[in-house]
Amino acid sequence: MAPTWDPDQYLKFHDPRIRPALDLLAHLDVESPETVYDLGCGPGNVTEFIQQRWPAADVIGVDASEIMLVQARKRHPNKTWVQADLTDWAPDTKADVLYSNAVFQWLKDHDTLLPGLVVNVREGGVFAFQLPRNWNAPSHAIIHEVVATSPHRAKLEPLLLHNPVHPPDYYYGLLKPYVSAIDIWETEYLQVLDGENAVAEWTKGSILKPLLDALKDEAAVFYEQYAANVASSYPPRSDGKTLYPFRRLFVVARR
Ligand SMILES: C[S@@+](CC[C@H](N)C(=O)[O-])C[C@H]1O[C@@H](n2cnc3c(N)ncnc32)[C@H](O)[C@@H]1O
Repeated sequence: MAPTWDPDQYLKFHDPRIRPALDLLAHLDVESPETVYDLGCGPGNVTEFIQQRWPAADVIGVDASEIMLVQARKRHPNKTWVQADLTDWAPDTKADVLYSNAVFQWLKDHDTLLPGLVVNVREGGVFAFQLPRNWNAPSHAIIHEVVATSPHRAKLEPLLLHNPVHPPDYYYGLLKPYVSAIDIWETEYLQVLDGENAVAEWTKGSILKPLLDALKDEAAVFYEQYAANVASSYPPRSDGKTLYPFRRLFVVARR
């Protein structure tokens, strides 16, 4: 089941979150596609850029989260937004572009998920996605440490994501049988964040969110402990900014 989302917290770091989405879009060499899907479109902020890139295309956002789609519909009431779980979703007809930014890390079984999606792209079209691959960074490792000593460990452990993103060559091996060409690369962004304990605020809008939701009234105590540990790994600079290196994996597969 997809976790619940807080679009405002997620969009707090709009610029560094959108940057890899735009970098992926810039690498798509597809002229005049008719049908483009933004898989796991969230609040529709990336969908908007996809539509700008191909103004004549029918760009459709798909997401499991009703709260994310409410925001998306508010921004673009005339676009098509589909509520669906990507683990059992398929388009009505084959797409020219299946695009997905920062989504599949939430979904297990890439072995079946990704081949199941790529076959929905027509010949010459592309399947493109970006995934965070930062699971050993202190921001993520500290979540596991705090859970291990938490009185709520039994409740939280099943919610932890354990290295859900594989190394680049795994995606080559998985998708190559379905495509004519595949381009895979990684980028480590040196993200420059504003605000107090910015890295804790960042994870609060993404990977920490399912744990905080599960804890309900107890969430504040857990978050405080996490935030204190994270602050020492990512101290602010003298200019008040916090540097947060973040590695991401990009895949562009052409049918
Ligand atoms: C990190 S957000 C990314 C949103 C958007 N793509 C962006 O780049 O800003 C992840 C999105 O994936 C969606 N998601 C997670 N699991 C999903 C699933 N099984 N099916 C559909 N959407 C899912 C979430 O609801 C959320 O909106």
